[in-house]
Amino acid sequence: MGVGDEQGARHPAGWQGVGMPLDGDEPLDTGVPLDTNVPHIARVYDYWLGGKDNFAADRGLAEKFMAADPSVTAGVRSNRAFLGRAVHYLVTEAGIRQFLDIGTGIPTADNTHEVAQRVDPSARVVYVDNDPIVLIHARALLASHPAGATDYIDADLRDVGTILAAAARTLDFSQPVAVMLIGVLHCIPDEDYPGQLVATLMEAAAPGSYLALSHPAADIHAYEMAAGAAMMNRAMAGSITFRTRAQVAAYFTGLDLVEPGLVSTPQWRPGPGVRPKPLPGWVGVAVKPAAGRSRSRAGRRNTG
Ligand SMILES: C[S@@+](CC[C@H](N)C(=O)[O-])C[C@H]1O[C@@H](n2cnc3c(N)ncnc32)[C@H](O)[C@@H]1O
Repeated sequence: MGVGDEQGARHPAGWQGVGMPLDGDEPLDTGVPLDTNVPHIARVYDYWLGGKDNFAADRGLAEKFMAADPSVTAGVRSNRAFLGRAVHYLVTEAGIRQFLDIGTGIPTADNTHEVAQRVDPSARVVYVDNDPIVLIHARALLASHPAGATDYIDADLRDVGTILAAAARTLDFSQPVAVMLIGVLHCIPDEDYPGQLVATLMEAAAPGSYLALSHPAADIHAYEMAAGAAMMNRAMAGSITFRTRAQVAAYFTGLDLVEPGLVSTPQWRPGPGVRPKPLPGWVGVAVKPAAGRSRSRAGRRNTG
């Protein structure tokens, strides 16, 4: 009898033990059960990215969203590509060597530490996610270059104090860090004050630190995105909130956006000669200025 069978005896139908043979890296023996009957955002996203760490419920919901807005797969792939471009920019042009990547997702190609350590192997990355399937695959995120370091924290973004305390084992918060909130803030409803969470994280970061953020848009493909969000909120355990450009701009309050400002996902530094059409996501990278030096109090430069 496998681990999954044993756990199946202790949990309702649909729960699977983490010892089950998922594709990819050998799972950590965390003892965490998975509810495979209810779609989870990390696994739905994995399906859209072409991954294999998803189940029938996740695939069913992902396909329904694709029917509502067929651009969703291009959008999530573009989001992942933005992550890579942002990390590359932060290491090569901004001189950042420390990353706090919250809402990591299931490991896939070009995880933050891989992009950063390709440029500088001494880069240090702390990953944070609250989904059991990400925890199961955390081993792939812990495979740091020996010159650098990675760590994984199983925590909720709403628990900023726990995250900062645990991240301080690996990151030196007296030096600049990049806080990465890539495709995660839409999982925080307004009543949990996402703006306050971002502000608390950036208050803990030294001047010269960066915020890299991406967020699904409520005001691009507005009708299709609203239909997709409603569908997901009916099916998933947690809720999602897509937001407008103005709402996403507010997360950059007190920070200075770097060029090209807050733009649709594929339009952030797409490379010479490339002129991509907008997809339904807003992205930006901003620096925390020295005290009293912000060029724009509300981070509204280039935010339209
Ligand atoms: C859409 S995926 C994005 C993954 C990755 N950042 C990327 O852009 O490719 C969102 C991730 O955020 C995680 N997440 C959602 N709500 C969270 C929360 N409150 N705290 C920590 N992680 C969360 C999910 O488990 C999932 O892995």
